[in-house]
Amino acid sequence: WDLFADDIAAILELKRRRRAVILAHNYQTPEIFHCIADIRGDSLALARDAQGLDAEVIVMAGVHFMAETAKLMNPDRTVLMPSLEAGCSLADSITAEDVRALRRAHPGVPVVTYVNSTAEVKAESDICCTSANARRIVESLGVPRVIMIPDEFLAQNVQRETGVEIITWRGHCEVHERFTPQEIRDWRADNPDVAVLAHPECPPGVVAEADFSGSTAAMSDFVAEGAHRKVLLVTECSMSDNLAAAHPEVEFVRPCNLCPHMKRITLRAIRHALETMSHEVTIPAHLVAGGRRAVERMLAA
Ligand code: 13P
Ligand code: SF4
Repeated sequence: WDLFADDIAAILELKRRRRAVILAHNYQTPEIFHCIADIRGDSLALARDAQGLDAEVIVMAGVHFMAETAKLMNPDRTVLMPSLEAGCSLADSITAEDVRALRRAHPGVPVVTYVNSTAEVKAESDICCTSANARRIVESLGVPRVIMIPDEFLAQNVQRETGVEIITWRGHCEVHERFTPQEIRDWRADNPDVAVLAHPECPPGVVAEADFSGSTAAMSDFVAEGAHRKVLLVTECSMSDNLAAAHPEVEFVRPCNLCPHMKRITLRAIRHALETMSHEVTIPAHLVAGGRRAVERMLAA
């Protein structure tokens, strides 16, 4: 921790001077998540809590699409992204033109868009969802078919849970797609008493091997309930680090798949962002209303 003390002290002072808040996703490393973040959580919490913040500056300790969502919800605030290289394989998998082509191929079918998407894709969508509310959002539409983009596995997992027919896209999370059902069976064989929690961005065969599937916040809640002394989180590995710090009584079985995008965010990068007020996230004016509408519909559903 001595290694981090200087940057942490500087960031705390810069936050005060700039009237800044730091939003941190559950996949951020513990020194960011526990020492400097003001708001922590899953993608849903970050989108919801980004609304109407009493701050002039929002720093996103997460990936670019999360910063765009924060900007959509706070057009008058300055939103800073500590690294412009913190992208997302899901957001990169689809363009606005791809969405228009899907609509042409399936006229009248509503488009449900995972928040892991760019502002231009959100602006083409009817409603957004996150892994925490995907099932509820799809059911709330009351239709037999939806287009759900861009995560193929999330869409397949939701189709199985809802019975709604889902037209999918071929996007995958580069972290969760690497897990296999055989790996889960092997970990269970070595740890017969373990509770397995899988993120719904995992392939359906992996989710089928798990005891529970939910967003990163749902996984945190599951661990916090305290019913299990040994857990395996089938997700990005900083989740286990953050929860282990908060729950020393729980043993974490630790496969480690890192998200290279989330790991672009470091204390040094956050400090630099606040010192230099970079990199400012902007959204082209013609995308703001449509993108914001899709996020607001999700929050209101
Ligand atoms: P949630 O935190 O919403 O579960 O999302 C996981 C994720 O991969 C975000 O990039
Ligand atoms: Fe995207 Fe997966 Fe990284 Fe989340 S963990 S930012 S979904 S690549």
